[in-house]
Amino acid sequence: MSGVSRVYRQGHTTSHALRGIDLTLPPGSFTAVMGPSGSGKTTLLQCAAGLDKPTTGTVHLGETELTALRERELTKVRRRHLGFVFQHTNLLPSLTVEQNVFLLMRLAGQHPESSGVADILARVGMKGQGECRPSQLSGDQQQRVAIARAIATRPEVLFADEPTGALDTKMAMEVLRLMRTAVDHLGTTVVLATCDPVVSSHADQVLFLSEGVFVDALHAPTPAEVTERMHRTWHLRTSEQLPRQ
Ligand SMILES: Nc1ncnc2c1ncn2[C@@H]1O[C@H](COP(=O)(O)OP(=O)(O)OP(=O)(O)O)[C@@H](O)[C@H]1O
Ligand SMILES: [Mg+2]
Repeated sequence: MSGVSRVYRQGHTTSHALRGIDLTLPPGSFTAVMGPSGSGKTTLLQCAAGLDKPTTGTVHLGETELTALRERELTKVRRRHLGFVFQHTNLLPSLTVEQNVFLLMRLAGQHPESSGVADILARVGMKGQGECRPSQLSGDQQQRVAIARAIATRPEVLFADEPTGALDTKMAMEVLRLMRTAVDHLGTTVVLATCDPVVSSHADQVLFLSEGVFVDALHAPTPAEVTERMHRTWHLRTSEQLPRQ
């Protein structure tokens, strides 16, 4: 991402969600993006994944400039090379769990086998539930299916927006292990937005976002270091705002 800004205009109000983001991520890296609510995490992931267009700046995936592609080509690149787990799940309600996974894999140009799909569902604790419809599942279970679905397509880059927010600790750790395996064995690049220091400590680096800009970074983070930096960043933000109050 180079000089990426995203401005939302609604009537007379303007919101600067991202302000000049420069970011290069090497293939096979695992990055966590942290920041308080409204700091721009979702906007950053969506601009990076070609789901939203930056107001200014460019986004490249390897040699391909995503920001220069027409919608049709962009959709093709997204389906074949990128995976996204949204903050709120978006399973297709009329399809079963298994069909949801199959569909995304086919759109990615793959020829999925039942056994492979059953296996990945088992990894997220959804063994034997491939025939269920999303409406029969809890929010937590739907999120696990959405994660399995994104990982099953073996994307080059996997974007995950607070994927573990609704999961219990054991399941969150299993999901993080799955992501780590994708990074280490398939060379997947993972970009994860989270507010949880334990979750972000699974990444190779943590980037701290505040009001649309990166304000700090940590390599090989521990939960304690992340918590300490988080407080420092949040504090910085509050004290900066004091004169305006
Ligand atoms: N569709 C939109 N229209 C107008 N403003 C928006 C829109 N989406 C985001 N914003 C604004 O952009 C800023 C960044 O929002 P964003 O959702 O990226 O933050 P976030 O860090 O993901 O927050 P959270 O932790 O609550 O998910 C906020 O000020 C938000 O109000
Ligand atoms: Mg968000």
